[in-house]
Amino acid sequence: MKVLVTGGCGFIGSAAILQWMAAEEGLEVLNLDALTYAGNPENLASLEGNSRYHFVLADLRDAVRTLQVVQDFRPDRVVHFAAESHVDRSIVAPGDFIQTNIVGTYHLLEAARAVGVERFVHVSTDEVFGSLGPTGAFTEVTPYAPNSPYSASKASSDHLVRSYHHTYGLPTVITNCSNNYGPRQFPEKLIPLMILNAMDDKPLPVYGDGQNVRDWIHVDDHVRGVWSVATHGRPGETYCLGGASEKTNLAVVEAICDAVGASRSLIHFVPDRPGHDFRYAIDSSKARSELGWAPSRSFEDGLADTVAWYRANPAWVDRVRSGVYREWMETHYGGRA
Ligand code: NAD
Ligand code: DAU
Repeated sequence: MKVLVTGGCGFIGSAAILQWMAAEEGLEVLNLDALTYAGNPENLASLEGNSRYHFVLADLRDAVRTLQVVQDFRPDRVVHFAAESHVDRSIVAPGDFIQTNIVGTYHLLEAARAVGVERFVHVSTDEVFGSLGPTGAFTEVTPYAPNSPYSASKASSDHLVRSYHHTYGLPTVITNCSNNYGPRQFPEKLIPLMILNAMDDKPLPVYGDGQNVRDWIHVDDHVRGVWSVATHGRPGETYCLGGASEKTNLAVVEAICDAVGASRSLIHFVPDRPGHDFRYAIDSSKARSELGWAPSRSFEDGLADTVAWYRANPAWVDRVRSGVYREWMETHYGGRA
């Protein structure tokens, strides 16, 4: 089977390619990635020389190039991870989120429609549903209510994907997943930021009062779910994937202090994120019953492994922090997609 993966050099896309290439013997993957600040080809260094893995530097914002890549590869399935993914960045500068997440998705849909594919899997987020109160959980029928430029751009792309099924019969499937953590996550997101700061005895900035709740899922569980959806999801459907592991941000940061062996006195409270969603939680009943998927990692084990990964990979951390990892792109492509 030939699968086009977009954003495969990012955190979740790279975990997906590594897991799927190891598990699926006949799988051939083309990874389309623009190598933004979040794209790190070193994440997939272990696949160098593997004849079933290919990489192409391309930007989804370029419609002509996107169509050319899809026409050349002729994938059976498309799994679309590429996006601008960080909420705080979207608050400061929403433009790239509109261009990549909405316009880029439109270009990819058009390309998939032009060649015809068996499945188009759009990887989305629970943030499209907005914010929950203290009880309840998001399901596939929860109305959309995005609150940040990031979640609005993802919601918009979800709607486009849905419309391509309804209007053109493109066999699309959407996943809406909760907060991921695990190895190789860019240290702008809560868990890797706090692990690395705690390891360096640096302050741990918790937004507001730290009582906001997220539902944490290990990235390996998420990408196993995406593969189930890519192979067994029904066209036109959406599937909510969650970790069944709700924690307040403060509880997460305290657990990180304990796992790293750092003092909890490093925690300090900073001004809240504008429009900060209070709580996310996912009810994955549909994916569990239809696909037989369920998350397998407990947060405690997953966090311990994640801390161990960051400890064991100081070179990856140094190169990401210093920006040296981007030299790969300069060397191979003169810095241009
Ligand atoms: P990431 O920021 O780590 O990686 C994004 C990847 O997309 C990078 O490799 C980047 O180079 C690439 N990319 C960005 N713009 C591009 C463009 N214009 N053309 C081609 N490639 C481009 O993101 P992530 O955390 O791995 O998230 C992957 C997907 O999963 C996103 O769609 C995100 O919305 C979704 N998601 C993320 C989470 C989470 O907790 N991180 C949870 C649910 C859903
Ligand atoms: O829910 C899925 C979403 O999870 C994905 O769609 C996004 O791509 C992903 O970035 C993530 O969004 P969040 O905004 O929830 O993740 P983040 O790691 O940025 O923040 C998690 C929580 O921690 C959130 O309530 C804000 C808080 N936070 C974050 C940072 C970076 C802090 O308190 N301090 C921080 O320094």
